[in-house]
Amino acid sequence: MEFSAFGRRYARHTGALELMEDLGAAMARGGVHMLGGGNPAQIPELEAVYREEMARVLDDPARFRRMLGNYASPGGEDRFREALAALLNEHYGWNLSPANIALTGGSQSGFFQLFNLLAGEMPDGSRRRILLPLTPEYIGYGDTGVSTGMFSARRPEIELLDERMFKYRVDFDALQPGSDTAAICVSRPTNPTGNVLTDDEMTRLSAIARARGLPLIIDNAYGLPFPRIVFNEINLHWDDNTILCMSLSKIGLPAVRCGIVIAREEIVQALTAMNAVMSLAVPSVGPVLLERLLASGELLRLSHEVIRPFYQARAERAVAWVHESLAGCDYRIHRPEGALFLWLWFPGLPISSQVLYERLKARGVLVLSGHYFFPGLEEDDWRHKQECIRVTYSQDEATVREGIRIVGEEVRAAAG
Ligand SMILES: Cc1ncc(COP(=O)(O)O)c(C=O)c1O
Repeated sequence: MEFSAFGRRYARHTGALELMEDLGAAMARGGVHMLGGGNPAQIPELEAVYREEMARVLDDPARFRRMLGNYASPGGEDRFREALAALLNEHYGWNLSPANIALTGGSQSGFFQLFNLLAGEMPDGSRRRILLPLTPEYIGYGDTGVSTGMFSARRPEIELLDERMFKYRVDFDALQPGSDTAAICVSRPTNPTGNVLTDDEMTRLSAIARARGLPLIIDNAYGLPFPRIVFNEINLHWDDNTILCMSLSKIGLPAVRCGIVIAREEIVQALTAMNAVMSLAVPSVGPVLLERLLASGELLRLSHEVIRPFYQARAERAVAWVHESLAGCDYRIHRPEGALFLWLWFPGLPISSQVLYERLKARGVLVLSGHYFFPGLEEDDWRHKQECIRVTYSQDEATVREGIRIVGEEVRAAAG
């Protein structure tokens, strides 16, 4: 059967498809050391809160109906957006109304909508692109463009740190947005590296974006104020030139598929209109489940007191296991500052990260090859792109520990 150009573009083999298929198959099969994927951890204390809240919804006919029995408005569940605007205004002193907030069917969908709203073919036939100031960057952006060439990207500066750590920094000398730039986008914390761009980097990016009349998109899927998987103290800034994207996935609810976009009204209205065409309405399950926890401040407390410490402890243990398993090898770890991942760099490894991925998969360990995480740098033959893997540390500790042990064995074997 012949598919359209659109069909071919979206039905082809993409990194996102490989990632989600590997994840789905491993979850169904079991017995695999699952160090790939972005599934959040199952934290019993959180699950208990969500279960209790779900019971409350089941006992309340009006909430039950709003959760499952009615289409929400196309911008997303109104009460949730009101509660979120109030919470962010109180917490950060912003001046948001629900008209600044659109919900999407997961933030992945939100990025698809946003990027194609701002970039691609313009009405005058010119083309615009999303600038990623620092790659490695989130794999999920890569294939979102309805047209090809949606991204331009920059290599980072690499700062070598003690104890086999390193940190990527924005190379501001190389940044220079071109006349074809539609917007600047960063994930903070970054998937795959666990990097958290500093407040200073964010202030500079924000100033450059404003001076050039470009929106600054901040992918805050792991950030403040929830799920707060950030291990250092940072600030979060929003103004009408910022498009702040959040998600309910990493608070432990990826299956509710709820993304949040906070932006000036013009952008929110456009996303709302797109929601109506693409899906009439977006799911209400997550918003109705959470509205009370959000309004009472309980979600922020859980983020601060349960989610963040949980992942920080996980990250510290995973780092210790990497040092143990890779002793004597040439390796570096990106300093884990947030999110769910360790980003391991093997300078001069004689095999590519994709071959390492395949060897690990054959041994029942799933990681992600780092080469996927350079959207916009596809043409760049920088060797570093083939020297890194992403290891997720959110799954159970025995699995992560054993997986990292096998990574050590395979890297040692490959290095000869
Ligand atoms: C940085 C980043 N942004 C966005 C997403 C998409 O999240 P979701 O579509 O589940 O909201 C993810 C998922 O892993 C992510 O890591």
